[in-house]
Amino acid sequence: MTKIYENTPISPELSKRLWEMPKAEIHVHLEGATDAATVWELAQRNKVTLPAATLEEWLSMYAFRDFDHFLDIYLLATQCMQTADDFAFMFERFLAEQARHNVRYCEVFLSASFMLDNFPQEEVITVFAEGIKHAKEKYDIGMRFIPDIARHIPESRYRVLDFILKGREAGVFIGLGLGGPEVGFPPGLFMDVYEEARRQGLHVVAHAGEVVGPESVWGALTELKSERIGHGVRAVDDPKLLEYLAETQIPLEVCPHSNYRLKVTPFNEPHQIRKLVDAGVYCTVNSDDPPMFSTDLTSEYLLLAKQGFSWDELWQLNGNTLEASFLSDEEKATYRTEWDAFDMNEAEK
Ligand code: ADE
Ligand code: ZN
Repeated sequence: MTKIYENTPISPELSKRLWEMPKAEIHVHLEGATDAATVWELAQRNKVTLPAATLEEWLSMYAFRDFDHFLDIYLLATQCMQTADDFAFMFERFLAEQARHNVRYCEVFLSASFMLDNFPQEEVITVFAEGIKHAKEKYDIGMRFIPDIARHIPESRYRVLDFILKGREAGVFIGLGLGGPEVGFPPGLFMDVYEEARRQGLHVVAHAGEVVGPESVWGALTELKSERIGHGVRAVDDPKLLEYLAETQIPLEVCPHSNYRLKVTPFNEPHQIRKLVDAGVYCTVNSDDPPMFSTDLTSEYLLLAKQGFSWDELWQLNGNTLEASFLSDEEKATYRTEWDAFDMNEAEK
């Protein structure tokens, strides 16, 4: 695998701190967080034929040529996830991994456009509600979901919205997202459903400025009124947009390894987050589809450390991620107490 740019050796102490610090994550996809071995197991269980004879061969398909290639594999993986039991199984593995990185709260995308026809919506909502309960009881992790519309299936948009509204009643879903291919599917196509979602009091977010340039971010901001931007790193190509983002402090959900693996960022260059932070843009740190990109949330912070970010900067980014979440002020204050206790402890060392 091609080596990602690094220019700074890091101490074992910094590495340990980054592992141990309490974390929040606001941009991670449930399906994309399911590792290749689990997808393989689900494929066997559900008799889905993947275009690979062995798990090793399936895993070798995770070397993505570009975004479209990634999306093909992502779609194949989602086809293996078919029953309530599959999702319960995925939750357990996902949560064990989140716990390993001391993730204390996460907002998780669900690719709703792909799964609405797979099984009854009520059943999905029940299994997700159980997942949230399990997260709290077994791992003391807070978890909420943001189902998203796949851009290339725009006709699914109102069914996704209906599904979200049903799940909100059960305290499971908190907002609407937009994922999938940016090319050919601009934000304007989704203006109507975003307006309705906002009218219904849902949070709204959108991936933008990942594969397409600044115009996609502008569209997500002005046409969809997205409260946060997924990725948004292509904003570095537009000084006016950087200024606007710095002024409004609209958070970007930055996912460094994802950008390298999908060739949004060249391997031999520092990640765009350096320029974004230096321009005063509000950045958060996330893992996107971690096993698909050979990463995890701690590794995202480690990479930034190896690109010269100081502990203070990384701690600030981690705090930003918690603050940019859709938790209530009271809930944030509770988590902040825990963050402050960790910081005090580290300062005393
Ligand atoms: N769905 C899962 N991962 C995604 C990404 N990085 N961009 C857009 N849609 C996605
Ligand atoms: Zn994403």
